[in-house]
This record gives sequence, structure tokens and C-alpha cells, in this order.
Amino acid sequence: MKRTIVVAILGTFALGAALVARPPAVLADDMEATVEKRIKSMKKMRRSLKKVKKIAAGKADWDADVMKSQPQTLVSELKDMLAMFPEGSNVDLTDARPEVWSDRAGFEAAGKTAIAAAENLASVGDADAAKGAYDDLRAACDGCHDKYLQD
Ligand code: HEC
Repeated sequence: MKRTIVVAILGTFALGAALVARPPAVLADDMEATVEKRIKSMKKMRRSLKKVKKIAAGKADWDADVMKSQPQTLVSELKDMLAMFPEGSNVDLTDARPEVWSDRAGFEAAGKTAIAAAENLASVGDADAAKGAYDDLRAACDGCHDKYLQD
């Protein structure tokens, strides 16, 4: 009789613990998926930037399509990416610094600077203008990374 009660109590405890433990575990999985998503977005931006770089540096012929579509991709990726750093997504997997969350205003300002630079790059019409606009955008990526990305 006594044993049954102990077992029942332990059983109840285990069930309770499982119920309590479950939501944070699910949340952590979601957050890892979020981190993977934003890293994917960053890698996509790196590829876009590379295509633009060759033309801006005069190493490839002027290509109006590339110089319109790639900066536009960057604008939309940058906008989406900024929403991919929710509270709680500072999980092991990330290389983001805690300042992303503790200095949110600074982080978002760095994001807006990059968006403006990408919009400007989308508007240039020749290689000379593209060079300066490319350098500005590159500096905007690096400016945010210097503050908010771990070495
Ligand atoms: C507003 C801040 C911000 C801006 C602007 C920004 N990044 Fe990032 N970037 C980050 C942060 C934070 C991480 C780390 C993400 C993580 O690990 O969770 C990162 C990571 C990366 C990575 C590393 C991904 C990996 O792990 O291999 C690349 C590549 C990258 N960014 C490219 C770019 C490019 C290119 C631009 C400009 C077009 C850019 N980023 C603009 C904040 C920014």
C-alpha cells in the first residue's frame, strides 16, 4: 500500500516535471531554427554582394540587371533579417553578441544604415558610382559585425 502511494507520487512528479520541462525545450528548437534562418540569410547576402563587387570593382562588365536585382535582394534580406533576432534567440548556436539584445536601438540603427546603403546601390547607373556605393554598403555590413558579431 505504502509502496503504491510512493510510486503514484513519483509518477505524478515525473509527469509534472515532463510537462514543465517540455515548453522550454520546444522553444529552444524554434530558436535554433531561427538562428539557422538568419545565418542562411546572411550567407545569401554575402553571395549577392560578391556578384555586385566584381562589377563595382570593374572586373566584370556593367550588367544593369545584376546591379538592380542583387541590391534589391540585399534590401529585402536585410529587412527580413532584422526580424530574425527575437528575444530568446541568443542560444549556443549563434555567433551574435549579447549586445544585439541589450543594445537593440543600436543594432536596428546599424540595420537601417545597411538598408539605406543597399537602396542607394540599387539606384546607381554606372561602375564609377557603383564603386562608392558598394564600399558604403560593405562598410555598413562590417560596421554592424564589428559591434554585434563575435570574432
Ligand atoms: C544589423 C546588423 C548586421 C548587418 C547590417 C549585417 N549583418 Fe551579417 N551578421 C550579423 C550578426 C549578428 C551575425 C551573427 C548571426 C548569428 O550567428 O546568429 C551575422 C553573421 C553574418 C555572416 C556569417 C554567417 C555564418 O555563420 O557563416 C555573414 C556571411 C554575414 N553576416 C554577411 C553579411 C553581409 C554580406 C551583410 C551586408 C550586406 C551583413 N551581414 C549585414 C549582423 C549584421
